[in-house]
Amino acid sequence: MTVLVTGATGTVGRHVVDALLAAGAPVRALTRNPATANLPEGVEVIAGDLAVPGTLEAAFDGVEAVHLINFAGDDYQPLTEGDKIVELAVRAGVRRVTVLGGRADGPLEAALAATDLEWTLLNPVEFMSNTSKWWADTVRQGETIKEPFGGRLSAMIHEADIAAVSATVLIEGGHGGQTYTLTGPKAITTTEKARILSEAIGAPVSFTELTEEQARAKWASEGMGQEIIEFLVGALGNTPEIGYTVVDTVERVTGRPARPFAQWAKENAASFR
Ligand SMILES: NC(=O)c1ccc[n+]([C@@H]2O[C@H](COP(=O)([O-])OP(=O)(O)OC[C@H]3O[C@@H](n4cnc5c(N)ncnc54)[C@H](OP(=O)(O)O)[C@@H]3O)[C@@H](O)[C@H]2O)c1
Repeated sequence: MTVLVTGATGTVGRHVVDALLAAGAPVRALTRNPATANLPEGVEVIAGDLAVPGTLEAAFDGVEAVHLINFAGDDYQPLTEGDKIVELAVRAGVRRVTVLGGRADGPLEAALAATDLEWTLLNPVEFMSNTSKWWADTVRQGETIKEPFGGRLSAMIHEADIAAVSATVLIEGGHGGQTYTLTGPKAITTTEKARILSEAIGAPVSFTELTEEQARAKWASEGMGQEIIEFLVGALGNTPEIGYTVVDTVERVTGRPARPFAQWAKENAASFR
């Protein structure tokens, strides 16, 4: 059963590829740039652009299951031609589809809902990997993390657990028509996150809590636009309940408990040293 993985070079997609390979499934990986994709041996790498459905015929040929992202481009714009992608999947005889959810459902999700495909929407909360995106440079340079809302709770999820759910759903089936919120095993505060990371990397991670006003000024001085600042203040200062409420979906679907942040921190310690 060949599985097409889109977003295969991304944070989650690389884990989806690994999980499928580990389960023995033949994997075809879509990328806009095969030359720089750097995917594991045994993966069939294929060129295509999700924003241009005409480039995707070959990618879907002979595929039975697909892991989809719902955006295109480095600014994560929703796929406007999601319906065409779904048409390609139906024509190719695809049976199962997982979708990595983003900010909101769009044309892709609407088109899937109107088919007989076994589709499953995966809506993870905050990725643990954001910690390296946001903190790695500062920690490596021995500087202090300065953020607002140190007591903010997040039920962060390990990217490999999102992937494990996707691979299980695609290989085993039985999850058609479901929308799953995916979280890690525990909600932790930003302050706790710094402490756990410090233990894992064996070096101090110093954290200073900023007031909202100080944070706004810092982000503006770093060149951040007003719209992003408002988004961050809203997301960090007023995290919706779903972002800090632990659910057991990872364990229910995969049979294994979700990985804790301490494990993520150990696995990724090198990027903070
Ligand atoms: N970070 C979080 O805390 C968080 C939480 C919940 C949900 N999410 C959602 O997760 C998603 C991001 O996933 P990620 O972090 O794994 O992505 P990522 O690491 O940013 O990687 C982006 C991937 O998208 C592919 N891509 C982009 N435009 C493409 C196009 N036009 N055609 C084909 N492929 C394209 C890229 O492939 P190539 O460059 O190889 O073509 C790459 O594999 C977003 O929808 C976001 O809303 C994130």
